[in-house]
Amino acid sequence: STHGDAAVKTGAAGETHQTAGGDRPVLTTQQGIPVADDQNSLKVGARGPTLLEDFHLREKIFHFDHERIPERVVHARGFGAHGYFENYGSLADVTRADLFQRAGEKTPVFVRFSTVAGSKGSADLARDVRGFAVKFYTQQGNWDLVGNNIPVFFIQDAIKFPDVIHAVKPEPDRGFPQAQSAHDNFWDFISLTPESMHMIMWVMSDRAIPRSFRFMEGFGVHTFRLVNADGKSTFVKFHWKPKQGLQSVVWNEAVKINGADPDFHRRDLWDAIGAGDFPEWELGLQLFDEAFAEKFDFDVLDATKLIPEELVPVKPVGRMVLDRRVDNFFAETEQVAFCTQNIVPGVDFSNDPLLQGRNFSYLDTQIKRLGGPNFTHIPINAPKCPFAHFQQDGHMAMHNPKGRANYEPNSWTADPGPRESPEKGFQSYPVQEDGPKQRIRSETFADHYSQARQFYISQTEVEQGHIASALTFELSKVETPAIRARVVSHLLNIDDGLATKVAEGLRLKATPKPADAAKPTRQDLKP
Ligand code: HEM
Repeated sequence: STHGDAAVKTGAAGETHQTAGGDRPVLTTQQGIPVADDQNSLKVGARGPTLLEDFHLREKIFHFDHERIPERVVHARGFGAHGYFENYGSLADVTRADLFQRAGEKTPVFVRFSTVAGSKGSADLARDVRGFAVKFYTQQGNWDLVGNNIPVFFIQDAIKFPDVIHAVKPEPDRGFPQAQSAHDNFWDFISLTPESMHMIMWVMSDRAIPRSFRFMEGFGVHTFRLVNADGKSTFVKFHWKPKQGLQSVVWNEAVKINGADPDFHRRDLWDAIGAGDFPEWELGLQLFDEAFAEKFDFDVLDATKLIPEELVPVKPVGRMVLDRRVDNFFAETEQVAFCTQNIVPGVDFSNDPLLQGRNFSYLDTQIKRLGGPNFTHIPINAPKCPFAHFQQDGHMAMHNPKGRANYEPNSWTADPGPRESPEKGFQSYPVQEDGPKQRIRSETFADHYSQARQFYISQTEVEQGHIASALTFELSKVETPAIRARVVSHLLNIDDGLATKVAEGLRLKATPKPADAAKPTRQDLKP
C-alpha cells in the first residue's frame, strides 16, 4: 500500500483491523502500552461479559467522558487564527511599549472572533455583537486587546454585566430563546436601562449581521492610556479597520445562512486563509490628552460613548495579517484565554468602571473554565518571550521553579531565580486619585440619547430602514405590551421618525410619552 500501511485484516465478525508497520506507528494507551486490538473489548468467551480488567477499554472511555470543559460564560462560540502585527514606525513619543518602537517589526498574534450570546453550537449569523480579541505575543509579555466589532457597550458599570447577560441568554424557566435578542427578558432589561440605547442602535443595525469576520471593524471600546519612557500619559482608543472593507448581510440572508450553513463565518475564515487570501486589518489610534478629554460633552470613561472620528481622527500605526489556521481547534481556539488585565509596559488602564470590572472577571472565569491556575502553561496562552517567576504547583503544573529558590529575596548563588527590575518592569501610571468612597454613577454619564441619535442619523436611508425593521421584528417577538411601549418611549428621545415607524410596525394602540431623560437630549455633538 502507498503509505507503508501493513496489512488490513478482517476480524471474526468482519470488523476492520488496520495494523501498524512501515510508517504507521503503534497505537498505545496514554501510559504508552502498545495496543493489540482496538476493535474489541476484553470478554469472557465470544459473547461476554466484558471484563473490568480491560484497562484499555476503561482508559479510552474514561478519557472520552471527560472531553468537555465548560464553555465560556459569554462569547462561547468563536473561531481563531494566527498571524502577525507589523508596526509602521516608532511611537516612542506616546508609548514605551516594545512592539511599537521599530518600523517593520512583526509581533506574532492570535485572534479569536466570536458571538456573545449564543452557546458553543449556535449559528454564526445571529444578530449579535461580535468579539474581536487579539493576543499580541510581545517581547515584554502578552498584551490582550479584548475588543468587539462595535465601539460602545450596553452598560456603564461592570456591576450590571451579570444582569445584561442573564437577560440576553435563554430565559431560566424555559431555556430559550437560544441566541436571539428577541425576547421579553432582554427587552425588559433594555427598556429599563436607558444607557443601553446607543449600543442598541448599533446592534439593530447591519453591524450586528456581518458578512464574515473578515469584513468587520474592531474596537478596544474603553479609553486606555499609553505611557512613554518619560512617564507622560496619553489617552487612547484602539480601532481595527478591515482592509477588505466593511460588509454585512441583510436579515433575510442571515436567516437563510443560519439554516443552510450555521458555520458560515468559521468556514469563511478557514477557507480564506487556506486559499492564501489572508485577511488584514490596520490598527488605528485615537490619541488625546486629559485636558482635551475634559472638553467633550460626555465622559471618556463612559463605555456607552465613542469619540467621534471627526473630532479625533484615527491614526493608522500598523497592520495585522491573519495567515495561519489553527492546528487544533480545542488546543488553540477553545483554550485561549484573553484578559483585559494582560497589558505591557507602555499601556495602562483608565478608570472606566466597566474596564475595571472586566479586569477582575476574565482571570476569575478562566481559572474555572481551564481547570486551575496553570492555564498559562498551555502553549496558546504562554508568552513567547523569556519569562521567569516563582509561581508553582497547582493542578497540571508543567514548569515549576528550578533549584531550591522558590521565593525572593534569597541568598542562594546556584539557581537564585529571577529578580525585579525597576527599569524594565511594568510601572503603573501614577495618576492622582482623591475622593469619598461611595457607590454612585457620575452625572457625566447621564446623557444616554445624543450619541444614539448621532449614530442613527449618520446611517443612509436604507440602513435606517434596516434599523427600523430590526427593532420591529425583535419587539414583535416580545409578548408584554408595556415592554414594547417602554422601548418606543426611548426611541422617541432618539428620532421621531424611527419611533413612529416602529410604533406603527408594532401596531401600538397609543404612542407612549418620551422616556424621562436625566439630561437634555438631542444636543448635536458635531463641533
Ligand atoms: C469574553 C469582549 C465586557 C466578562 C469576552 C470575549 C470578548 C469580550 C471578545 C471573548 C474572548 C475570547 O475570544 O475568548 C468584551 C467587551 C466588553 C466586555 C469588548 C465591553 C466593552 C465584559 C464585562 C465583563 C466581561 C463588563 C464582566 C464584568 C467576560 C467573560 C468572558 C468574556 C467572563 C469569558 C472569558 C473566558 O471564558 O475566557 N469578552 N467584554 N466582559 N467577557 Fe467580555
